[in-house]
Amino acid sequence: MSSKELLYLSRADVEAVALGMPTIVGLLEEVFRMKGEGRVEMPPKPGIHTKPDAFIHAMPAYIPALRSAGIKWVSGYPENYKQGLPYISGLLILNDVDTGLPLAVMDCTWITAYRTGAATALSAKYLARPKSETVGILACGVQGRTNLEALACTFPVKHVYAYDVLPSAQQQYIDEMSAKLGVEIEGVDAPKKAVAESDLVVTSGPILKHPTPTIGKDWLRPGAFASAVDFDSYWKPEALAQVDKLSTDDHAQFQYYKSTGYFQNTPDPYADLGEIVAGLRPGRERENERTMAMNLGLALDDMAVAPEVYRRAKERGIGTWLKL
Ligand SMILES: NC(=O)c1ccc[n+]([C@@H]2O[C@H](COP(=O)([O-])OP(=O)(O)OC[C@H]3O[C@@H](n4cnc5c(N)ncnc54)[C@H](O)[C@@H]3O)[C@@H](O)[C@H]2O)c1
Repeated sequence: MSSKELLYLSRADVEAVALGMPTIVGLLEEVFRMKGEGRVEMPPKPGIHTKPDAFIHAMPAYIPALRSAGIKWVSGYPENYKQGLPYISGLLILNDVDTGLPLAVMDCTWITAYRTGAATALSAKYLARPKSETVGILACGVQGRTNLEALACTFPVKHVYAYDVLPSAQQQYIDEMSAKLGVEIEGVDAPKKAVAESDLVVTSGPILKHPTPTIGKDWLRPGAFASAVDFDSYWKPEALAQVDKLSTDDHAQFQYYKSTGYFQNTPDPYADLGEIVAGLRPGRERENERTMAMNLGLALDDMAVAPEVYRRAKERGIGTWLKL
């Protein structure tokens, strides 16, 4: 193809490439090691906000070793479900690192869903007990699905507790995910059981700047790991204060969010995922530590995955070539 054309990949095209979760976890591990070693370029993401608690973020990153450069333009609108629309939507542009020309434009919803689950599993690989068998999922949406899938391909998961405010969403999740992953999923009618009975906990409800959190002190048991995909929205300050090791994916991004009003009651992370994967900061050190990842979602995650989607799509003739 001429360099004056770009490949457009719709949501269905990206899905058809069907990159497996273990591959995505592996790509993220590689890239977070590079981040820890200072071998990537990624400014904190700026955003615009057309409604309260909604965002549209610009997320650029450059990963020299993968020859990956590009930007994701992604929105999150918590009220969209009322119109039958997805919470998260957006596009990703991949650029040629030598000429800067756009190589591809692709829907970013699949990549966002999968790389966020993969970031949870990668954090858990370093921060959770390897024999973790029970998972609590609080909010059975897109993230509840991909986070469980990623954990199930990283840990010997045997039993899952699932909670959602909407009983119909919870039931659909149980039916779909137990068939997909072959694990036992039990619906619970209150969040506490899903937290207190689990080795691995994922909260993935709406992100709110001024949350009214649910999870209290002592709910997360000693030795457990949690991934707060929805930031601190689900976790009371006294529950967060009990966590022995709270990590994030990028210190600068965390401080940026803090300066805009988020994380007012969240302790500063002891390490970021790049530092942990690169061995600069320790992961789990004791059986009974409570650990938590508060990954904010980085352009790096997306740019780790997008070139592989592009490469495989080209190989298999997936997508539509468009003139620049
Ligand atoms: N940290 C990251 O990198 C990252 C990346 C993508 C999305 N997110 C966040 O993840 C969250 C979920 O996104 P999604 O795409 O899965 O959305 P989704 O709309 O698919 O799912 C959200 C689910 O939450 C349920 N819910 C709402 N309030 C709840 C509550 N209090 N308790 C339990 N369930 C509740 C809804 O019924 C729905 O099933 C959003 O906050 C989004 O911004 C974070």
